[in-house]
Amino acid sequence: MAQSFDVVVIGGGPGGYVAAIRAAQLGLKTACIDDWKTPDGKPALGGTCTNIGCIPSKALLQSSENFEQAGHGFADHGVRVKGLELDLAQMQKRKDQVVKASNDGVAYLFKKNKVAFFHGRGSFVKAGPEGCEIAVSGETLSARNVIIATGSSPRTLSGAAFDEKLILSNDGALAIPEVPKRLGVIGAGVIGLEMGSVWRRLGSELTILEALPVFLGAADEQIAREAWKIFTKQGLKIELGVKITGVKTRKDVTVEYTDAEDKAQSAIFDRLIVSIGRIANTEGLNAEAVGLKLERGFVAVDEQCRTSVAGVWAIGDVVRGPMLAHKAEEEGVAVAERIAGQHPHVDFNTIPWVIYTTPEIAWVGKTEQQLKAEGVAYRAGTFPFMANARARALGDTAGLVKFVADAKTDAILGVHIIGAFASELIAEAVVAMEFRASSEDIGMICHAHPSLSEAMKDAALAVDRRALNI
Ligand code: FAD
Ligand code: NAI
Repeated sequence: MAQSFDVVVIGGGPGGYVAAIRAAQLGLKTACIDDWKTPDGKPALGGTCTNIGCIPSKALLQSSENFEQAGHGFADHGVRVKGLELDLAQMQKRKDQVVKASNDGVAYLFKKNKVAFFHGRGSFVKAGPEGCEIAVSGETLSARNVIIATGSSPRTLSGAAFDEKLILSNDGALAIPEVPKRLGVIGAGVIGLEMGSVWRRLGSELTILEALPVFLGAADEQIAREAWKIFTKQGLKIELGVKITGVKTRKDVTVEYTDAEDKAQSAIFDRLIVSIGRIANTEGLNAEAVGLKLERGFVAVDEQCRTSVAGVWAIGDVVRGPMLAHKAEEEGVAVAERIAGQHPHVDFNTIPWVIYTTPEIAWVGKTEQQLKAEGVAYRAGTFPFMANARARALGDTAGLVKFVADAKTDAILGVHIIGAFASELIAEAVVAMEFRASSEDIGMICHAHPSLSEAMKDAALAVDRRALNI
């Protein structure tokens, strides 16, 4: 006899667990199935994000930044550190504790909200308007609504399968037991830059090999240029326009490639991180057998996350759009509310992007190059952190803020930041854009002094050529 629910969520990552909590809050009898397990077989809720993504990477980014500051940053503040030592085992242990606290947090929230949790791999038995059935660990769950939130996995480079010893995905890249002397990274995207930064700060000689001829193509060009300048000064060696022709492993890893001039090159690394994008997790779901349409490997959905089968929804990394935890969460909440008969809306134009390098890079809305391509008339205002008093006090003056606003209406179309705490500053821009604010609105709001947020105000004022501090 199947256990019956109003909603069954497959996947306990940030999309799935948030959808389950919201559905339960709305009075729906909800179950969540997740198959993640610790090495000793225990459940570990939170998905990629919590276990081998956002959370452990940010823990290591913070620890490695502390190490770099103690070694190279504190002296300028008159703080001398003698006998600085790296305790990588402790750093990894702390990271694991941060992860565990997050796993436990999700389990606690499930209990609090009365979400039934099933540990194992969920697979469709049937799906359709008359109801769905999902098999998990020898049980069958039935529900009128199923939310697929199965996430994504790292894409493999052909001829370079992950062994997590020499050729590492994000999983292995978070758990290297000793600092590799020569670290190679294939793909100068978000993971490559973040994980590369961690190991460079801890002492690795870092080389990043990127296929595209441009650096950070999704970011605003001015911000990407600034990032390139700062990162290469930090010692990151980034080669653009390469084509990988072979990867061989012995005691170390040899990567053969052609460079931007089409010349054959090779490089030897102690470890190689391959971060060339991710693919949707649909394997084992029995999705196509129950009529679910896939599109380029993703579960096909409309704007509201409805799949091709009535009563089945899909959210997060397994569907189109940016692979970001907060995008997955927004979709999860919206789907739960739609199932409960509400009319939520996710504005895909105001989803912020953050790259947690030093300095951080964050943006929301359109880049200048996008607006040019779309033929939109705009005005841009920039403000450098060098001219911000708090940034000088912090000793963190790299970077700038840029506002892009409609030339006629002054509505903010995009905000781009490279600098300290960009991940926090961007929230003001998201709020402003959600409320359809103009750049003048931000310029008229009182910002605390001295604070980095004043750079937001000054950049907004700079749109009208009236920044006060430059
Ligand atoms: P996931 O988090 O992938 O969760 C899916 C869950 O479903 C997993 O537990 C999986 O095992 C389970 N599952 C899959 N199939 C089944 C099945 N058939 N039955 C049962 N369970 C199943 N995003 C950010 O916004 N900020 C960041 O700082 C950030 N950092 C990242 C760092 C790294 C190294 C990586 C790899 C990713 C990072 N991301 C970040 C991206 C973020 O992790 C994803 O966008 C997010 O996890 C997607 O959430 P999700 O719920 O769709 O899927
Ligand atoms: P990515 O899409 O960010 O970057 C992949 C890079 O690899 C691209 O620049 C691409 O041109 C390059 N590439 C692809 N094939 C290649 C090849 N054969 N040789 C050389 N280069 C190649 O993907 P990444 O870094 O794997 O991350 C996956 C996703 O995870 C991100 O897109 C993002 O959505 C999410 N993520 C988000 C983070 C955040 O929000 N801070 C942090 C880490 C990951």
